[in-house]
Amino acid sequence: MEVKTSLLDNMIGVGDMVLLEPLSEDSFLENLKNRFDHNEIYTYIGSVVISMNPYRSLPIYTPDKVEEYRNRNFYELSPHIYALADEAYRSLRDQDKDQCILITGESGAGKTEASKLVMSYVAAVCGKGQEVNKVKEQLLQSNPVLEAFGNAKTVRNDNSSRFGKYMDIEFDFKGDPLGGVISNYLLEKSRVVKQPRGERNFHIFYQLLSGASDDTLKKLKLHRDFSKYNYLSLDSAVVNGLDDAANFRTVRNAMQIVGFMEDEVQSVLELVAAVLKLGNIEFKPESRCNGTDESRIKDKNDLKEMCELLGIEQSVLERAFSYRTVEAKMEKVSTTLNVAQAYYARDALAKNLYSRLFSWLVTRINESIKAQAKTRHKVMGVLDIYGFEIFEDNSFEQFIINYCNEKLQQIFIELTLREEQEEYVREGIEWTNIEYFNNAIICDLIENNQNGILAMLDEECLRPGTVTDETFLDKLNTVCAEHQHFESRLSKNSKFLTDHSLPHSCFRIQHYAGKVLYRVEGFVDKNNDLLYRDLSQAMYKANHSLIKQLFPEGNPAKVNLKRPPTAGFQFRASVGTLMRNLQTKNPNYIRCIKPNDKKASHIFTESLVRHQVRYLGLMENVRVRRAGYAFRQAYEPCLERYKMLCKRTWPHWRGPAREGVEVLMADLQVPAEEFSYGRSKIFIRNPRTLFFLEERRRQCLQDLATLIQKIYRGWKCRSQFLLLKKSQIVVAAWYRRYAQQKKYQRIKSATTVVQSYTRGWQARKLLRDLKYQKRCEEAATTIAAYWHGTQARRELRRLKEEARRKHAVAVIWAYWQGLKVRREYRKFFRANAGKKIYDFTIQRIMQKYFLGLKSTMPSMSPIDKNWPARPYLFLDGVHTELRRIFHLWRCKKYRSQFTEEKKAVYEEKLEASEIFKDKKALYPSSVSQPFKGDYLEISKNPKYQKLSSAMDEKVLLADVVNKINRANGKGTARIFLLTKKSVVLADQKTGQVKASVPLPDLTSVSVSTQSDGFFALKLKEGSASAVKGDFLLSSEHLIEIITKLHRIGATAADREQLNIDISDEFLVQFKQDKVCVKFIQGAPKNGNSVSCKRKNNRLLEVSVPTTA
Ligand SMILES: Nc1ncnc2c1ncn2[C@@H]1O[C@H](COP(=O)(O)OP(=O)(O)OP(=O)(O)O)[C@@H](O)[C@H]1O
Ligand SMILES: [Mg+2]
Repeated sequence: MEVKTSLLDNMIGVGDMVLLEPLSEDSFLENLKNRFDHNEIYTYIGSVVISMNPYRSLPIYTPDKVEEYRNRNFYELSPHIYALADEAYRSLRDQDKDQCILITGESGAGKTEASKLVMSYVAAVCGKGQEVNKVKEQLLQSNPVLEAFGNAKTVRNDNSSRFGKYMDIEFDFKGDPLGGVISNYLLEKSRVVKQPRGERNFHIFYQLLSGASDDTLKKLKLHRDFSKYNYLSLDSAVVNGLDDAANFRTVRNAMQIVGFMEDEVQSVLELVAAVLKLGNIEFKPESRCNGTDESRIKDKNDLKEMCELLGIEQSVLERAFSYRTVEAKMEKVSTTLNVAQAYYARDALAKNLYSRLFSWLVTRINESIKAQAKTRHKVMGVLDIYGFEIFEDNSFEQFIINYCNEKLQQIFIELTLREEQEEYVREGIEWTNIEYFNNAIICDLIENNQNGILAMLDEECLRPGTVTDETFLDKLNTVCAEHQHFESRLSKNSKFLTDHSLPHSCFRIQHYAGKVLYRVEGFVDKNNDLLYRDLSQAMYKANHSLIKQLFPEGNPAKVNLKRPPTAGFQFRASVGTLMRNLQTKNPNYIRCIKPNDKKASHIFTESLVRHQVRYLGLMENVRVRRAGYAFRQAYEPCLERYKMLCKRTWPHWRGPAREGVEVLMADLQVPAEEFSYGRSKIFIRNPRTLFFLEERRRQCLQDLATLIQKIYRGWKCRSQFLLLKKSQIVVAAWYRRYAQQKKYQRIKSATTVVQSYTRGWQARKLLRDLKYQKRCEEAATTIAAYWHGTQARRELRRLKEEARRKHAVAVIWAYWQGLKVRREYRKFFRANAGKKIYDFTIQRIMQKYFLGLKSTMPSMSPIDKNWPARPYLFLDGVHTELRRIFHLWRCKKYRSQFTEEKKAVYEEKLEASEIFKDKKALYPSSVSQPFKGDYLEISKNPKYQKLSSAMDEKVLLADVVNKINRANGKGTARIFLLTKKSVVLADQKTGQVKASVPLPDLTSVSVSTQSDGFFALKLKEGSASAVKGDFLLSSEHLIEIITKLHRIGATAADREQLNIDISDEFLVQFKQDKVCVKFIQGAPKNGNSVSCKRKNNRLLEVSVPTTA
């Protein structure tokens, strides 16, 4: 929520003098002092800002402060120069009103500082961007340059502006700065040649000598020592707190930012050096034969150096210092100069040189900072002109400066009154006239065209005949004597005849800011501002571009016999233009006040401030402001501020703000004559009324604060109580839940125990019953079994008895029958016929058997296992023997068909079966595969032609095998060749031989019992092939490879039989290491492929998928 603040909040004294009650000069000063003592250096009189010079840096210009005042209403915060700058900037940006900021006050009151604060505030709040920032920077950096050349230390101010400055800053429609134009007014050039006691020349001379490098000084023919230069006063050359050397660097840097070229800076410094050199030129008199004195240059060294610097011919300048040529009506008269005139000429040249250089600098800066766009600009003018000056010895410069201040005061009076008046008209409020001192009469005394002092001075200067300052004073005495603000000893106004404080050679003007005594000496000269033509022509002849530009009148082609306009005339004209310019703009005033004469902080010299308050007309300003209404405020903020004072407007007023204020005022019973309703503002006549409102508001705020506190506390306690209550319920609920849970668990476990006891008891009872039942059943069964057994045995005995009896009967019967047959047939057979019958029967049976065998013979395939069944048991032996003989015969038949190759193949198969059968799980799958040998068709395949030709023996086996890397167990495809003499491993792609192992180096081959194709070729220790170690290979044709290797071993006479080791764990030699190769039944994650992994130095693990 935005917090509405007001100027009236936390006020020290009164922030706006209009509200001062009672209003008197003393209370005014008291209020200023009170605020000054509390570091409140700004106070308002309505919209005018009074600024007291604190003479120390206060922390009130920080970026935070800028943000605080940005876009806030003027009266919203405590008085500050930023509030005025913000108001001016926003009126310019939002209401399209050109603004001017008029900063007035006496020397050292803080005008220049105030103008810089205003500029820096505007720079901080206006738009940003690369181009805009550059413009801002150039505008700000013009200050150090102009201050170096135009400011000097005076007794009143260590950084006193010795020229008037008006700067128009131009903005575009968005409020972004586009550029600026600086106008300068009358530089106090007499300072170049002479400075009053305790003062200095312009800063740049000291800065150059202290800050320039030795090299630069050498180029400029200068010495660092100030005492070497006549134009530099020595008594206060060094100023406390001023670092000339550092400032010189700042100035150089600023010149660069503003846009000065390097050669331009050099030219400027040369001119500054030339002025110093000029001051060192001294003259001596030399008598001529006609008795007159002529001047001669004492020591020509400085002249020579100066001429070298500026590119002037020495003789030309020397002559210009000795002669003066006067041209009149086609006539040229040359007169010699005496020493005084030569010094006059020298100083005039120095002053002109410097003041023209200064004007050139302003023009040059303007060239850089002028706005580029041709569109209409909004303008904010900042006027920082020299303050009102009263010295012991006041001359032409002070007269001009004070005239300028008179004009400003006049415009102040005019515009303030006008603005006040306009506001009343705008708001429809009746206007009452106010009495105030109008200084128009003083301005008229000075600037009146017929009999004004400046007009008199011009008349005197242009008059033929002898013209002196005295004749000018005489003229003033005759013309102005009657004027009430003019005083002189010789005026007809007799009251000054005896006034000894007014010397004869002086006149006194009663300015708005006090009486000032002017010494007429030098008025005519300074107004004439004469530079002998010989000198300007000498300067024009210089071979130096800048000097030539500065003295255009020296051009012989453009000789102008007309006198140039006088200084007074020029100044009057430019002040007139300035005033007209200011009148077209909306004025904003900053009235600077100097608290003491000592340039010290914390000192408030009441008499000095009182004097300034008087001459600045601040009391009148307050009175003017209060004559009508002391306080005004727009309806909305007024209602916002005081609405709590009336029940109807508090807390919200739903109608128009004006009606709300009316209701408020009626409710508060404020007398009707105390205020008026304008169109957009309420006008309060008396500060008392405002303070009454403020007091009521303060009380009301206290009551409201109490009410808010009460409600807040009540709310807080209630909230806390509710929170506690809620927490208590939660805690209780949790506790109950916990207690019930515990109780439930106890009951549950008790129930379980009881239950288990009961169930146990029941189960045991049931068990007992069942056991009893079972025993009964078993007993019954046993009894039944015994019973049935008894029955069965009895039956068996009976049956056996019966069978024995039947058998005995049958035997007896057979014997009896036999006996009967034998007795009956004995008479038909011989005694040996039985044996013959037996033999015949056997023969018949055998015959039948063999004939039957012939038709049921099995096929000729040696693997056919069929054989007919035997018909009689007694033929068992014969039958088996016949089967064996048939099988052998059948095999023989089968073998007899074999060619030699096939025979070899079967031999190999046989050998394979001898080696592997029932030893390796891979073997059965190899039986049906023919042993092809050359799987790669190496001799035919052109890809392996080179490899094949490298083999000096016949290749018995060529296949692609996987060579297992000894280090990590990963496989690489290799061509495996087997000849009678060696085993060769070659690269699969290139056919390049990678290893060749002579078979005698092969001691054994190890394979696992499982269905994998891994085999290790173990090499003889110490043989050449064994350097890298044994080979671990894997092949789909493992059975064939090993068989072939074994066969070659068997046939070779020169070496031992190759060992074939079939085991799931065997050792191989890899270089120096003995590594155990271990075969394990693979885990499911290995899928169906065989994987090989080097586990560590000692172990290489091969996972073989589990065979189903
Ligand atoms: N607001 C301020 N805060 C701190 N110091 C200040 C302030 N205003 C002025 N001063 C001090 O006062 C000195 C004189 O101020 P400044 O040069 O602005 O006076 P001036 O009114 O321009 O005088 P002149 O008419 O001689 O040029 C400054 O150098 C500075 O030390
Ligand atoms: Mg100044």
